[in-house]
Amino acid sequence: MMDVGRHPNIKLLTYAEVEDISGYVGNFKIRIRKKARYVEETQCTSCGDCVDVCPVVIPDEYQVGLGSRKAIFLSFPQAVPSAYIVNADECLGQNPIACGKCIEACEKECIDFTMKDEIIEVEVGVVIIATGMDIYDPTPLDEYGYSSYPNVLTSLEFERLICSSGPLEGHLGRPGDLAFPKRIGFIQCVGSRTQDPERGNPYCSNFCCMNTIKTTQYLHDAYPDVESTVFYTDLRAFGKGFEELLMRSRASGVKYIRGLPGEVYEDPETGDLHLMVENTTSNRLESHIFDMLVLAVGAVPRKETETVRQMVSLSKSPSGFLREAHPKLRPVDTPTKGVFIAGSAESPKDVRGCVTQASAAASRASILLSKDKFSVDAITAVVEEDLCTNCGVCANVCPFSAITWSKGQPAEVITAACTGCGTCAAECKFNAIKMRHFSDQAIFAQIDAMLEDNPSETIPTFACNWCSYAGADTAGVGRMAYPPHANIIRTMCSGRVSPDFVWYAFRKGAPVVLVSGCHYVDCHYIDANRSTTRRLDGLWDGMDKLGLDPGRLQLEWCSAAEGPRWQHIMEQAEEKRLKVTAGEISETSQLLKEKKVPSPRNPRPKDENQLSDFECLVCGEKWEGNYSSNQERSCPACRSNSVRWIRKR
Ligand code: FES
Repeated sequence: MMDVGRHPNIKLLTYAEVEDISGYVGNFKIRIRKKARYVEETQCTSCGDCVDVCPVVIPDEYQVGLGSRKAIFLSFPQAVPSAYIVNADECLGQNPIACGKCIEACEKECIDFTMKDEIIEVEVGVVIIATGMDIYDPTPLDEYGYSSYPNVLTSLEFERLICSSGPLEGHLGRPGDLAFPKRIGFIQCVGSRTQDPERGNPYCSNFCCMNTIKTTQYLHDAYPDVESTVFYTDLRAFGKGFEELLMRSRASGVKYIRGLPGEVYEDPETGDLHLMVENTTSNRLESHIFDMLVLAVGAVPRKETETVRQMVSLSKSPSGFLREAHPKLRPVDTPTKGVFIAGSAESPKDVRGCVTQASAAASRASILLSKDKFSVDAITAVVEEDLCTNCGVCANVCPFSAITWSKGQPAEVITAACTGCGTCAAECKFNAIKMRHFSDQAIFAQIDAMLEDNPSETIPTFACNWCSYAGADTAGVGRMAYPPHANIIRTMCSGRVSPDFVWYAFRKGAPVVLVSGCHYVDCHYIDANRSTTRRLDGLWDGMDKLGLDPGRLQLEWCSAAEGPRWQHIMEQAEEKRLKVTAGEISETSQLLKEKKVPSPRNPRPKDENQLSDFECLVCGEKWEGNYSSNQERSCPACRSNSVRWIRKR
């Protein structure tokens, strides 16, 4: 921290909060609120005179509530800058000044209650998010008695308790009566590796086993009289030197018992903690007595990370941690260009993992910063200004906020921020957005080609590049046989699949159409596949309205690793194809031709604010609406987006 504070190229802003991040790679703008600390940080020598006279006593967050602090305080002993902060909400000296004792005590006159929060705006090229993690709160796990007994602590609380800068200044004592604990039990996997959401999280928190092993070793070295017993489901000591540490811990007399306690209760007289456990190695029910119990709690994502995540349009994994661009090949990149992640914001890690990842993120960021120009993939969206109706729909659906739009102005794509998912192009009803590569013409041409001969034997299959297409590949590489009638059209994301592609395929005689993409949380374009679901809902409704069997349009999610699932999806689609009759196919084709579905896209009207007549090309519904309102341009009867503007009134 000291090194960071002194580094000429690092500007350290403490006691500050990021309020907004806008812009894109190379051009991020960050608004930061630097909170008033009411102490001149350059003058404060942290002598502590102000602390001595402050009458307000508050539980100390740094000591996880095991110690106390004053309303004027140092966040933690090694804080940089080493200057006090007054918490305005806790201080008695605010508005009007009722106390002011710290002002009188400070000889250097560093305390200034007129200070105000400062808004700082910085422009940066890249952003690295390293917001860390929180620990699991074991209160819901009644059987361990965490909320009932003072001598049941979390591993973090125990860490503070034995720390030389902790509430007992490094002396070991149990919080209930400060007696020296001779028997200490450690319970592993608290709030981790459970499928019951009421009892924690399904993932392993990575660092808890080694933290406990390290603590037992410390206790053995510092307090040889202490008996440590560890209860575990299995021990994960897989890092460099970790197994050796575990063996040292065992050799030093620490007992390791495989099995998690079912119940803990306290003897009110002595404060002893009684614990029942099934030892799954000996298959015996055992009872143990401890002076203190330490719960090795797992990790959870920080609440505040969610705010930052939304600011820079990142996705998160099912566990709530930030999602990397690729778990193996781009582990510190994110789908948003120029944004990197480091440390436990991505997943729970130990110190070594955090340092490694932070170094990697800094290196990746430096690669970008060292260049004058940034090259982007050619697959980006382009707005045709003449066709743009300024409706703003494209900007709303863009998962990366890469499209800017204001009333009266055509939409504009920020090429550097565009990732080429194609959701905007699929959403635009006026053909005003073109994709470089994966263009409409190319996709229509592929549909034409695959349905030219024997269309009834072909299943046009739209597969996203990252998961479904790769899943099909996995099935192929694994020699998994499946019916050969699916012809794949690759798109970068399932969000690129426009309803027109589907209608066109049916019109050309497809018996079944399949749209496939990544599982919801896996979409490589954050949540672009939610647009896919919305569009397919509209298509199913439209098919229903037209008297077509909605089952002929299938939507499936498949990951790159799910070869067997792809095989199953193919078998299902084939099963459906065999049920669709030749008559059904030709009737569908005829009907869509008559109804002109899909139709050539509407030209832009002259005056967009006028009321207009609309006609649904799917169900024939006619209505009056406002041309510039996107909502009024969807069919009120069947929710189809295949709508025709008739005339300006
Ligand atoms: Fe696969 Fe979006 S990338 S659905």
